[in-house]
Amino acid sequence: MTDGETLVEAALRVLNTADPVEKAKLGDELANKWLQGLISVPYHPSQADFIVPDRPARLTNVKLVSPSLMPKLGKAGSLQSRQAIVHSLVHTESWAIDLSWDIIARFGKQESMPKEFFDDFVRVAQDEGRHFTLLAARLEELGSFYGALPAHDGLWDSAVATSKDLFARLAVEHCVHEARGLDVLPTTISRFRNGGDDQTAELLEKVVYPEEITHCAAGVKWFKYLCSRSKNTSVGNVMENGDDKESEEVIGKFHEIVRAYFRGPLKPPFNEVARKAAGFGPQWYEPLAVKDFTR
Ligand SMILES: [Fe+2]
Ligand SMILES: [Fe+2]
Repeated sequence: MTDGETLVEAALRVLNTADPVEKAKLGDELANKWLQGLISVPYHPSQADFIVPDRPARLTNVKLVSPSLMPKLGKAGSLQSRQAIVHSLVHTESWAIDLSWDIIARFGKQESMPKEFFDDFVRVAQDEGRHFTLLAARLEELGSFYGALPAHDGLWDSAVATSKDLFARLAVEHCVHEARGLDVLPTTISRFRNGGDDQTAELLEKVVYPEEITHCAAGVKWFKYLCSRSKNTSVGNVMENGDDKESEEVIGKFHEIVRAYFRGPLKPPFNEVARKAAGFGPQWYEPLAVKDFTR
């Protein structure tokens, strides 16, 4: 029974769906409903808070190992390496689906976010579901399947670490991790191309890469929004980057949060073009690439 369901309730249904194929499918249906206005209320302000799972439902068929024990993925020169890389991307996308619905369910009501916040992350969630579905299908075309290889859950570990603070969640997951994806994807794409797998290269280049830029942009946009709201200043100025002083403050806050919640320096080289397209310049991330010896 889902009549009158709010978006937060819908998000919880996705988080509580264990099968990733079903998770992506349900997410896509619910995203369409929201974007078409068939689900029209993000949450009822008077309703008691729902419990958002610490860890979304997941099948147990994917063997999890610690990130340091992950087998080497290789450089896409062999079929085995191509399967390993696509497998790891499929796993990342499965977590990206959960991360998008989690930010909606966990923070949307708690932080009284405006409708546009829900619109943006519903679109991100729908994209991530599409990436998962397309890459999982490609993995099967390559003669493997999701669950055939081990994976690690580093992305969710940082989701847990940022589960109490929307600034931290936006900065670490949606700016640092998403942007790291932008840094490494062009190399991955050329490796597939050099390895003779144009189909995977095209999928990553034409579908995944441009959409990941918009995800990063959503992180930057809502981080700026939160900064501006917490200062009670004009949202417009900060969101349009129209005020240098405020921008400096926003970037300072970003550095503070990333240093507090992200272990270690950011790893160059950075994809400056894609990062710029997402709305953040080198002043946001370059100071974070240097180890801070004072800590
Ligand atoms: Fe994605
Ligand atoms: Fe993404």
